[in-house]
Amino acid sequence: MSLERKDEYDHNAWLKERDLSVVEKTYLMTLIWFDRRFRLVDYLEILENMYYKINLQMPKSHTEQYNLDNKFWYWYPLYALGSFSVIAYLVAALTGALLGFYYAPSTAGTPPESYALLTTIMADQNFGFMLRSIHRWSAQVMTAAVFLHMLRVYFTGAYKEPREVNWIIGVILLALTVGFGYTGYLLPWNQLAFWAGQIGVEMALAVPLVGEWAAQMIFGGFSLGQPTLQRMYILHVFVLPFVVTALIALHIGIVWMQGIAEPH
Ligand code: HEM
Repeated sequence: MSLERKDEYDHNAWLKERDLSVVEKTYLMTLIWFDRRFRLVDYLEILENMYYKINLQMPKSHTEQYNLDNKFWYWYPLYALGSFSVIAYLVAALTGALLGFYYAPSTAGTPPESYALLTTIMADQNFGFMLRSIHRWSAQVMTAAVFLHMLRVYFTGAYKEPREVNWIIGVILLALTVGFGYTGYLLPWNQLAFWAGQIGVEMALAVPLVGEWAAQMIFGGFSLGQPTLQRMYILHVFVLPFVVTALIALHIGIVWMQGIAEPH
């Protein structure tokens, strides 16, 4: 796949033989400089091969195959809800990482340290109020978009063969999105967070057989405290981001391979 390379190659002589402008010469010299060190051209060639392979593998859509005139659905805005979910997720991830610079999970003190830190972010950090608001809004937009995306997939029958696996991955993604929302909701450790946590513990305890074990695993005990907040924090900033990012990549990879479904 890679280009044949010579051990010695007089690039300067090659460049001199050609009638090139200063701009062209500078461009080529720069490219050669990087290529000799990082084998850029090899990687570009690999990328190009991948691009053509993927394009050749893409199945023709129903409309393309039968040359149907009515292609209005290509531009149907509801088909963008999946991408809209991705965008909201990226915004939430970016603003979440920035909030993470100033936040720490701690229930110590009155008011609790986590709550005090969020108040500080909003009152004292430049653009802090905006940062927190964008994070909360993007999280809510993501939840709404994912739900609407699911409805669009359902009502256009896009979950049917061969897309069942992607529907199941989607159901998991919806549950994890709600999980993102719930764990994030507890992080400020204010009254709303505390009582939402209390409901969570009681719901876990109400599960037959494994209830107590689940409460201990997820909430760190039967009553709320530092172990609860610590768990919510790790789930929110470490576990869920990895799992959700990987699943979204898989989900979109499958859409790429199968092509988008068309309403029948
Ligand atoms: C984090 C959540 C999710 C993200 C980021 C996401 C992203 C996407 C994207 C970008 C597409 C391409 C087509 C489109 O935009 O409509 C898509 C298609 C699809 N999604 Fe999702 N999705 C998510 C959740 C879900 C859920 C909750 C379900 C259903 C339970 C689902 C099932 C599907 C199916 C079956 C397709 C193929 C549809 C077709 O071929 O027309 N996804 N998803």
